[in-house]
Amino acid sequence: MVDDIKILVVDDERVVIRSVEMVLKAEGYDIEGASSGKDAILKMEQNNYNLVLTDLNMPEMDGITLIRWLRQQKPETGIVILTGYPSQETIKEALELGIIDYVPKPFTPAVLLDVTQRAIEWLRKRGVVEEKPTEEFPPSMLDEIDRVIKQYKEIPGSSIPVLQRCQQIVGYLPPHVQKRIAKGLNLSPAHVHSIVSFYSYFTMKPRGDHNIRVCLGTACYVKRIEESLNKLKQELKIDVGDVTEDKKFSIEVVRCLGACGLAPVIVVDEETYGAVTPKKVAEILEEYA
Ligand code: FES
Repeated sequence: MVDDIKILVVDDERVVIRSVEMVLKAEGYDIEGASSGKDAILKMEQNNYNLVLTDLNMPEMDGITLIRWLRQQKPETGIVILTGYPSQETIKEALELGIIDYVPKPFTPAVLLDVTQRAIEWLRKRGVVEEKPTEEFPPSMLDEIDRVIKQYKEIPGSSIPVLQRCQQIVGYLPPHVQKRIAKGLNLSPAHVHSIVSFYSYFTMKPRGDHNIRVCLGTACYVKRIEESLNKLKQELKIDVGDVTEDKKFSIEVVRCLGACGLAPVIVVDEETYGAVTPKKVAEILEEYA
């Protein structure tokens, strides 16, 4: 998980919870949903969340009441508002209660991710969230990364080939490798991160020997790819973004694999499987057993 951050998203619209979960889980965040203020309080009484993303307009208990409760009971928790049409008064009150930021609905995955990352950075600067220790890589690996950066440094637009080469060296692109590349190429870490997030070829987490990419794009979604994704998670006993204990399989979700005519689609390594069903998932896994 990213820096062991635990996030709670509170919204009475299930579709919002699901899209926030989809975007942030794919980036490695540990995230749960609550469909009302009361449900959120129950969850927060049992768990510690570093960050709460909450709607303001909810039946039974509005977001402002929830934020007031949080300020009294969990003052360390970061709060981001996730709402459509806030009034000047509610925004003013939320700001007075110390929210970190605001995501207007509807939001794009990039905006949600950007605000979430900035909120976590804000919490980190205040010492509320500890940075996970950097993975140890052998010095020879870091030297190789630096050699690649040096080789491409003067070539304009070379960030993608550098990232590709570095991913081949390390196997994935964790945040500290991205920062090293950004520094070496004189780019902002946010710019490098946006490239890594945009292209499904790049990954921020280690992959298994067989990486399974599941398409959650519109064509696949309407043909119920979610049922096959659930079957996959159940068979492999892992969640999206994780690797099986024997390091054999990993699951990723992507937004379109460019094979919409075959929907619903999954890709195992370089092999594309169309018209996937939960039954077919079990057969596909057997091919790699
Ligand atoms: S939407 Fe799934 S392949 Fe395009």
